[in-house]
This record gives sequence, structure tokens and C-alpha cells, in this order.
Amino acid sequence: MPMPLNAQVAEALNQQVNNELKASHVYRAMAAYFDGQELPGFASWFRGHATEEVGHAMRLYDHLVKRDARVELSGIDQPPKDYVSAEAAVASALDMESEVTGQINALFELVHESKEYGTQPVLHWFLEEQVQEEDLFRRLLDQVKAAEDSRWHLLMLDQELAGRQEA
Ligand SMILES: [Fe+2]
Ligand SMILES: [Fe+2]
Repeated sequence: MPMPLNAQVAEALNQQVNNELKASHVYRAMAAYFDGQELPGFASWFRGHATEEVGHAMRLYDHLVKRDARVELSGIDQPPKDYVSAEAAVASALDMESEVTGQINALFELVHESKEYGTQPVLHWFLEEQVQEEDLFRRLLDQVKAAEDSRWHLLMLDQELAGRQEA
């Protein structure tokens, strides 16, 4: 008989599916904010990132399915609609990424303690991903800060973001 996935781990993985979907929702709302600010490059970058977060949720979803555990979705809070500035929006994105890093760390600890060895490689991927995500948002925040809310500099950065492949 194959060992069923530890129930606490299954619950925590389901919670993380929701956290990733929540991040996707927040980023899509941020894209809408930037579209409203006539900054289509920022908007498209955040749309891309919202899609990437759905991909993260589905990685965990697929793992639950492979381990014969039930996927259970829960509700997602309404995301913020407005920000005082482009800088404030990007700063809150970086905060959310640090929060997600904390969630992944806690998940990793639980998986380690419950000896769910088969789940560790999936979480290794997430640990690496969070290092990249925080770096990405930190660099973006640096650039937005350098623009100092000057419309001209923001438009230049917007053009640069429109051409970026990574999100
Ligand atoms: Fe994510
Ligand atoms: Fe992320």
C-alpha cells in the first residue's frame, strides 16, 4: 500500500495553492491599477506575473493530485484597488513576495518535520523561485524609486518594461 500524503501537509499545500492564487489576484489588480495610470508596460509586466502565480498554484495542485490527495480551493479576498504611487504599488508587491517566502519556509519546515521526503523537491523549486522573485521585485523597486515619480522617467521605465520577457 502506498503511504498517503500526510494530512497536515496536504492541508498546508492546499493553503499554499490559495496563497499563490491570491498573489495572482493581487498582481492582476495591480495590472488594472497601472492600466488606469496609462502605464501599459507596467500593466503588461504585472499581467504576466499574475499568470506566473497561477502556474505556481498549479505546480502544487499537480503535486497534490499525484500524491492522491484532494485539491480544495477556498475564497480569495478582494485585492487592493488603488495605490498612492507606482512606487507604493511595487513596494507592496515586494512585501507580498517576502510574505510568500515566509509561507514557503514554514511549509518546508513542516514537510521536513513530517518526513514527507517526496514533497521536498517541489518545495526546493519554490525556495529557489522566491530568491529570484524577491530579487526581481527589489530591482524593480530600485528603478521606480530612481524615477522619483517623474512622469517622464516613469514613461521611460514603462517602455522598458513593455519589452521585457521575464515577469
Ligand atoms: Fe508564487
Ligand atoms: Fe511571486
